[in-house]
Amino acid sequence: MNASTGLFDLTGRSALVTGAGGGIGAAVAKALARAGAAVLVTDVDEAAASAVAEKIRAAGLTADGAALDVRDRAAADTAVARAAALADGTLHILVNNAGVTAPAMFENLQEESFRQVVDVHVLGAFHCTQAALPLLATDGTGRVINVTSSAGLTGTLGQVNYSAAKAGVIGFTKSLARELAGKGILVNALAPLAATPMTETIRTNPKFAERMLSRIPLGRWAEPEEIAGAFVFLASDASSFVTGQVLPVDGGLVI
Ligand SMILES: NC(=O)c1ccc[n+]([C@@H]2O[C@H](COP(=O)([O-])OP(=O)(O)OC[C@H]3O[C@@H](n4cnc5c(N)ncnc54)[C@H](O)[C@@H]3O)[C@@H](O)[C@H]2O)c1
Repeated sequence: MNASTGLFDLTGRSALVTGAGGGIGAAVAKALARAGAAVLVTDVDEAAASAVAEKIRAAGLTADGAALDVRDRAAADTAVARAAALADGTLHILVNNAGVTAPAMFENLQEESFRQVVDVHVLGAFHCTQAALPLLATDGTGRVINVTSSAGLTGTLGQVNYSAAKAGVIGFTKSLARELAGKGILVNALAPLAATPMTETIRTNPKFAERMLSRIPLGRWAEPEEIAGAFVFLASDASSFVTGQVLPVDGGLVI
């Protein structure tokens, strides 16, 4: 192995990815496994998580699938223990990726929908990270990677709930990075942009599609696989001096 691959090598490390039954989470789970990690692929949709884990195993890599609704703290405890068991009881990498959207212009935005979105993104990250903390590696390999959005950085029309949740994830990331630095655990967030089921409406509705593309300097959507390398960076020794940061991986949408 040469020095540059070694920096990104995750052999011997365990990872738990939430919302990994499809979209970005599935691509991240595959990329972490390809870098050598043993990955617990979790999703509220258990069948989807199991199918992704099965594909990873079929490629000769290490993965298991499990149900995890991130709104459920007890389920987070169980999943974290299962993920840590993949590496002798230590969890190295937690990726808080699960997400939902419920767009509505503010005057029509219902409290229930506001709570639903904040619950999944902010409380979800809180539950999984607090469950993970006792088992997270403290030898400099421990990582919490949260998933935020350009919505949390610059706001998005018709998404006050989602933008508030994603801005919440940024504050969560920055405070936690300060708190966990003493334990050698790095906490960062990534703001992606990719062609997934979540962005299907905006990509296929002619009213939104052209306007959105015109705002992306690289002029296109990425496939989820193109986002995944940045997660491997934040999960690996290559990012050993990076904490409390938000990394946009979005074709230049946020500059
Ligand atoms: N796709 C983009 O362009 C984009 C842009 C900015 C941020 N994001 C963020 O990236 C993350 C992944 O989004 P995606 O585009 O892959 O979306 P997606 O809809 O394809 O995947 C989201 C996954 O989360 C799962 N999920 C939903 N609620 C859950 C819950 N309560 N517990 C556990 N899992 C749950 C879904 O089943 C699904 O598999 C999300 O946090 C999203 O907000 C995506």
